[in-house]
Amino acid sequence: MGRKSIEAVDLVKRYSTYIRLGLFRKVRRDVTALDRVSFSVDRGSIFGLLGPNGAGKTTTVRILSTLLLPDSGDGYIDGFSVTREPDRVKRVLGVVLSVDKGFYGKLTGRENLVYYGMLYGLSRSDSVRVANDLLDLVGLSESRDRLYEEYSLGMKARLSIAKALIHDPDVVILDEPTLGLDPVSARKIRSVIKDLSSRGKTVMVTTHNMWEAEVLCDRIAIISSGRIIAQGSVDELKRMSNAARVVEARVYGDPSKVPPQFVVERVVDGIMYLKASLTDSSDVSVDRLVGMLRDRGFKVLALSVREPSLEDVFIDLVGGESVV
Ligand SMILES: Nc1ncnc2c1ncn2[C@@H]1O[C@H](COP(=O)(O)OP(=O)(O)OP(=O)(O)O)[C@@H](O)[C@H]1O
Ligand SMILES: [Mg+2]
Repeated sequence: MGRKSIEAVDLVKRYSTYIRLGLFRKVRRDVTALDRVSFSVDRGSIFGLLGPNGAGKTTTVRILSTLLLPDSGDGYIDGFSVTREPDRVKRVLGVVLSVDKGFYGKLTGRENLVYYGMLYGLSRSDSVRVANDLLDLVGLSESRDRLYEEYSLGMKARLSIAKALIHDPDVVILDEPTLGLDPVSARKIRSVIKDLSSRGKTVMVTTHNMWEAEVLCDRIAIISSGRIIAQGSVDELKRMSNAARVVEARVYGDPSKVPPQFVVERVVDGIMYLKASLTDSSDVSVDRLVGMLRDRGFKVLALSVREPSLEDVFIDLVGGESVV
């Protein structure tokens, strides 16, 4: 087996949709959901595919998990082709999609997992043992005998992860695993993901949450409008971006006189929160920026300079737009 657990090679996917223009007219619109998407994930690492709504994250996940065929290109899980060897891929891969309709409301969490274990060919006693271990891993042991329909959203999300692990896959792909969860549930999910990685599994997650990608992932690829526009570790991405440093100022003054270097982030009770990015090559210094504000009659109430976050890099690269 090679060093790479997940590989996407030049994946292309187009969708044709019809847009209705009134009662009898409709026009065909082709959407290129993926435009030669390539990346690879090292064995045992956590990889994040980060992008705004409509960027192509779910399409990528569906192709890598053999649920959707690409128009061209291929994906490999542990070296097996997702287009030519889907059965072998399914044996080494566990997938958690954001909407999991595969559970029975009138069965308990544990019964659901035992059922899936037996579907995978485990004996009843092995299924029970595996189900108990997995419920423990995802922190659901105490609720294992409650009906699925009584589970909260966060508990359902954790049960979906347990289900994806029933056949002890090497590689786990999760599509927006913390979407819609409160901060406490989201943190539990992140800790389960870290746990999987420490057990040697390769994990890929999609997210539009920069902070989550930053705390969770060893490497990140940023996808926008179906294209990978940057990839690397969080530090590498920060270096790649133009935003070398971010200056934030809280000021009071005439909104029409804000210097062009600044953007107004928000205005609260007449106080403006301004932000400027200083690139290594830009010829204005922090002092010069403050000077500009004072020259234009602004009262500077607070000023801070910080290194860019992944969010700054993301906005710098993606332009802050969602494509739906
Ligand atoms: N079945 C489909 N038919 C037509 N167009 C589709 C279909 N599925 C997705 N698309 C389009 O493909 C593009 C990528 O969608 P995708 O669901 O992969 O994005 P995403 O990054 O997962 O977005 P989100 O963050 O909203 O989940 C979008 O423009 C979307 O409208
Ligand atoms: Mg999606």
